[in-house]
Amino acid sequence: MYKLHRGDALTVLKTLPDESVNAVITDPPYNSGGRTSSERTSRDARAKYVTSGSAHDLQTFPGENRDQRAYRSWLTDLLTESYRASTEHAVAMVFSDWRQEPTTSDALQMAGWTWQGTIPWIKPASRPRKGGFKQSAEFIIWGTKGTLDHNRDLYLPGHFSASQPRKDRLHITQKPLEIMQQLVRICPENGTVLDPFTGSGSTGVAALCEGRQFVGVELSPHYADIAEQRLLQTMQQIRTQDDFVLAGPEA
Ligand SMILES: C[S@@+](CC[C@H](N)C(=O)[O-])C[C@H]1O[C@@H](n2cnc3c(N)ncnc32)[C@H](O)[C@@H]1O
Repeated sequence: MYKLHRGDALTVLKTLPDESVNAVITDPPYNSGGRTSSERTSRDARAKYVTSGSAHDLQTFPGENRDQRAYRSWLTDLLTESYRASTEHAVAMVFSDWRQEPTTSDALQMAGWTWQGTIPWIKPASRPRKGGFKQSAEFIIWGTKGTLDHNRDLYLPGHFSASQPRKDRLHITQKPLEIMQQLVRICPENGTVLDPFTGSGSTGVAALCEGRQFVGVELSPHYADIAEQRLLQTMQQIRTQDDFVLAGPEA
């Protein structure tokens, strides 16, 4: 089951009941992509994150123009509401890039989460950098509400390697499903994963495929429509598979 809210993440998060979700897995607008504050705050997501000559013509998305202090304060508020809405032992996982990693780990801790680590996501297809080191990784900053649940027999990797989807890509900053499907396993089976920045719905699709429930929020009507379609399609596929298993292949 899933519920997709259309609107502003902070406004919607405030309406969620206390202790109603078991994991927060999200990929907020990074508010990065520029050497100077004016480059970061004046350009939209497409101008920042899509290289010239790119094969796709995907729409931009909102929320990319906060300066550093505004970003930290906003992310702290979001993670504070997420904390309130989470159960004991819940895990929060927040994507970031190298520039915003320190701010993101500050915001996570200021919101009450216990910072547990930073997981590198290696992108093999990243561009070479003349005269310097390739920026071939993004990061998942993660923390817990209280402690990890030590009663679970669960062992997950400490890093991931996968390229962003190329074929049939739906969102400028779409995350690889194979990574998301591993991340959502941090949520107990049948538990609920929250993603306040749903985008094209990758976290939600992964959650449903792995037998978890999903609550998402997306501000852009364009991307909310895409997420809704992907989530519906996933639910239909799961129902068809379940019918097949119940009835057997001969039916
Ligand atoms: C980095 S993208 C997420 C991409 C997603 N992980 C995927 O695989 O498609 C962030 C998303 O947050 C949305 N967004 C920006 N500001 C928002 C806000 N205040 N409330 C809810 N969603 C917002 C953007 O429209 C964008 O789709």
